[in-house]
Amino acid sequence: MKTIIINASPRKNWNTAQMLKEAQRGAEFVGAETEYIDLYDLSFTGCRSCLACKRKDAERCRCYWNDDLAPVISRVLDADALIIGSPIYFGEPTAGYRAFLERLLFCVLSYDGGEPYFKGKVDTGIIYTMNAPKEFYENGMSQNYKGTEGMIARMLNGEVRTYAACDTVQVSDYSKYAMGRFSEENKKAHREEQFPLDLEAAFRMGAELSGKKD
Ligand SMILES: Cc1cc2nc3c(=O)[nH]c(=O)nc-3n(C[C@H](O)[C@H](O)[C@H](O)COP(=O)(O)O)c2cc1C
Repeated sequence: MKTIIINASPRKNWNTAQMLKEAQRGAEFVGAETEYIDLYDLSFTGCRSCLACKRKDAERCRCYWNDDLAPVISRVLDADALIIGSPIYFGEPTAGYRAFLERLLFCVLSYDGGEPYFKGKVDTGIIYTMNAPKEFYENGMSQNYKGTEGMIARMLNGEVRTYAACDTVQVSDYSKYAMGRFSEENKKAHREEQFPLDLEAAFRMGAELSGKKD
């Protein structure tokens, strides 16, 4: 059982990374082999539309663009589970998250119609982190991500689970930043009460997706 964990936040130790490290702990708790990747350490772009993966003589499910991401895509398609986390920037997951998915999903998409080329199965967990409160996420934002989540499920033939850690603390000392719209007191209280529960949920996600029997 192999689980790949991908941090699509540029920050390596903040909210998204902390959630993902708990998911990794959960995966390892049930015996999975894991690999943790900080996406922003890699040199890559979104799909370059080189179409090498669509050539008639091409090996399928392989991205041919020669950069740091191509081998990661191959390893994800060889894994049993993928857990990816992203902060929300302007209402959407990060550019890195999107670029990764363009590359991953395009090389398994068939332009001959019908089923994707990928015949394996990768179960996917997605962790979003954001300033927005939970109700705002649940009553609005979450709908915006359903299309992409559904596409991942269809292309990777697996289950997609999501979790949102909301109202995150963005900086360690709000008094040093022009961030008047946020109450440091409320943020820190939320962090103390809610974030430990978010971390537990991330642990469970990692354990459950990595401990599936099918
Ligand atoms: C460029 C940028 C845009 C952001 N846009 C949003 C947004 O639209 N909605 C939101 O809820 N939070 C937004 N945030 C806040 C982050 O999503 C939030 O702080 C997140 O937890 C950061 O993750 P990290 O700690 O892993 O970096 C934004 C942050 C940045 C830097």
